[in-house]
Amino acid sequence: MNTATQGPVRLMENNSYFAHDTHKYMYCTDGVFSDFIFSLITETIPVDLKNYQHAFEMGAGMGRFSFALVSHFPKVSLIEPSASYTAVLKKLFDQEQVAIVTSTLEDFFEKNTIPAQSIFFNFHLLHHLTFEQRREYFTCLRKANAPALFIEPNPWNPLIVLQLMLHPDMRMQDEWQYLWLTKKRLAMEFNACGLELAEYGKLCFLPPPITKLVLKQPLFRKPLLFVDKTKHLLPFLSSYHMFYVHPRPRAV
Ligand SMILES: C[S@@+](CC[C@H](N)C(=O)[O-])C[C@H]1O[C@@H](n2cnc3c(N)ncnc32)[C@H](O)[C@@H]1O
Repeated sequence: MNTATQGPVRLMENNSYFAHDTHKYMYCTDGVFSDFIFSLITETIPVDLKNYQHAFEMGAGMGRFSFALVSHFPKVSLIEPSASYTAVLKKLFDQEQVAIVTSTLEDFFEKNTIPAQSIFFNFHLLHHLTFEQRREYFTCLRKANAPALFIEPNPWNPLIVLQLMLHPDMRMQDEWQYLWLTKKRLAMEFNACGLELAEYGKLCFLPPPITKLVLKQPLFRKPLLFVDKTKHLLPFLSSYHMFYVHPRPRAV
């Protein structure tokens, strides 16, 4: 992979929404939460992630989900357009196996070739992209012939609207799309770009701030994985929904 980022790059710093000193709730100093989410993912998707050599995370923010990727994949690339967030990523993941690139995903695909055996992870990204950006991204994944995982806030969970209304850093005008990105709608968008929704599931029964608190006590980690099974009974209470997609096989 060529990670050069010369030339004009569409950075986010003048977008006040994801700029310096905002959204500190996304910042984690360890990988406990990220490992928990990763375990829930591996229980849900029908693939062995060990088959992949290179994990890309688009919109990595301040690394909330990146910890698990760094501990599970031989090579990891974290792509994030906010320079203040990539500065945080560089401090957290100062490791040879990790490449941190300050770039939008659109510029990244324009300037890089994706190696074989790559997989893409996206945590809380899609609802911050426009319909056109999502279409461009899905088309790039199709061309790269790479599978991807998308984890988005569960649109059916009423607690998330409450959080949006109460949190001083969150603005409905920047977040509302998560309410729109239902399974049906995203499956249609994937399909139109040649991707197939191979698996779908709900994850994380307790709200993330409470999950993080409970996970601080190592004894509670296993029971919490078990509690997540209740998602089948109360799916609207899960915090996230997850989409695993891969390029649709071409007809021969
Ligand atoms: C809600 S934050 C999630 C960050 C991180 N994944 C997490 O969950 O903590 C969305 C992130 O997507 C990034 N983002 C927005 N537009 C992007 C684009 N076009 N390409 C790549 N990342 C983008 C933002 O800068 C922001 O860091």
